[in-house]
Amino acid sequence: MQIVPGEPIEANEGDVLAVPVLADLTWGPGAEWAVDSLGDWVAGQFDAQEFTGKAGQLLEVPTAGALPYGRVVFVGLGEEADAESLRRAAGTVARATARDTRIVTTLHAVDIDGAVEAVAFGAHLGQYRFDKYKSEAKPPLTEDFVLAGADDATETRVAISHGTIIAAAVALARDLINEPAVAKPPAMLAARAEEIASANGLTIRVYTEDEILEEGFGGLAAVNAGSDQPARMVVIEYDPVGAATTVAIVGKGIVFDSGGLTIKPAASMETMKTDMSGAAAVFATLQAVAELELRVRVIGIAPLTENMTGGKAQRPGDVLTARNGKTIEVLNTDAEGRLILADGLSLAVEREPDIVVDVATLTGSCAIALGPSIAGMWSNDDGVADRVLAAAARAGEKLWRMPLEREYRSHIDSEIADMKNTGERYGGAISASLLLSEFVGETPWAHLDIAGPARSSKAEHYLSKGATGFGVRTLVALVEDLAAD
Ligand code: BES
Ligand code: MN
Ligand code: ZN
Repeated sequence: MQIVPGEPIEANEGDVLAVPVLADLTWGPGAEWAVDSLGDWVAGQFDAQEFTGKAGQLLEVPTAGALPYGRVVFVGLGEEADAESLRRAAGTVARATARDTRIVTTLHAVDIDGAVEAVAFGAHLGQYRFDKYKSEAKPPLTEDFVLAGADDATETRVAISHGTIIAAAVALARDLINEPAVAKPPAMLAARAEEIASANGLTIRVYTEDEILEEGFGGLAAVNAGSDQPARMVVIEYDPVGAATTVAIVGKGIVFDSGGLTIKPAASMETMKTDMSGAAAVFATLQAVAELELRVRVIGIAPLTENMTGGKAQRPGDVLTARNGKTIEVLNTDAEGRLILADGLSLAVEREPDIVVDVATLTGSCAIALGPSIAGMWSNDDGVADRVLAAAARAGEKLWRMPLEREYRSHIDSEIADMKNTGERYGGAISASLLLSEFVGETPWAHLDIAGPARSSKAEHYLSKGATGFGVRTLVALVEDLAAD
């Protein structure tokens, strides 16, 4: 599907005309023209279908030839339109019209900043499918998603391209995450990262199993011990000329989390192929920032391994030494994310970046605290925390800052090592963050726990069921913000 500027709706044609309506049937651009052209009976349809323009509502009516479109789709924006309501409305429209070839819309004409980009982004993701394992896949048929009346100016083209690049990055992350674990062992995922790197002119280093031991990635090695698939540590770098700022992004890459010997109950294991969502967000962000040619140096780091129960698996009570020399007593092998991130973060700060951000499906505790659509953020630096929060807000991802409560450091005191890998049940996401903080030193850092929003239990607006690609948009928005410094 391509998003293209086109003639105004009065001079256009297509399978579908999609127009926005705000709360209480307040007409958005083109809605009044559509209603007038269709005739009085439409009012009865709004009534009968209880369509009032609430956010998320969609009403399709046939034109019966009254207009040069097969159907008119009215889409609700709610009380007040903003970039996120436009992304969502575009997603809703694109999903509902995936079997149509030519969609003409006025959504982008809603008078807010970034409308064109928001519509391009939402439309692309609304048609995202992960259907490679369906023997009878029904891929979307849409060829053109036409922004009616948009002037064919550079500004429009740039906004479309921007929304398309970010949507493609999110789709890449979703593809990697939705892939079954059997088809993405660490070596294969690292090879995908190499493809992404070479397609975008990025440098990449992949540490093999021997190098992981030699380089002292003790957390990654310990988690990997129970798996027949060798681990990888991926470092992928975008280093444009003239970059004044360096940001390191570290993503948790557990390609499958069985829990290890502290094995998970069956139901909790079902979705654990998702546990590399942080690593997927890192790869996807690198692709996007390179395509957008942002002037910031970005170092992406992804420790990749399964967490399995093989005969060599680490045992509760074992002690490991992480890359920075600190020791961790592993009391619960299911608290494995922080072990591999200990190495990833240590490696990140060695590069002396200005900022480190990690992204991880780290704790059920965070998902319990904030629910399925909000990620938690912990930070050792108010300035970085505010920038990350602002980036998330611009990008349309929900993020809430949580306390890095030093008083709880005692929760992870170990009798025999520098720390242990589990705390108390209460505040579990905080003790995980406190453990991570041991590996970042004084470097300004933010940790995003995306255990809740990494997956969606339903297809709605621009989300599909399964992986969401959460984190990519915030990271890209953050790099954009740093590029503007
Ligand atoms: N990958 C899980 C966290 C998770 C849970 C992500 C649910 C997505 C949905 C993580 O490795 C884990 O198992 N965490 C444990 C930590 C505990 C043992 C301290 C948890 O949250 O239960
Ligand atoms: Mn786990
Ligand atoms: Zn995990």
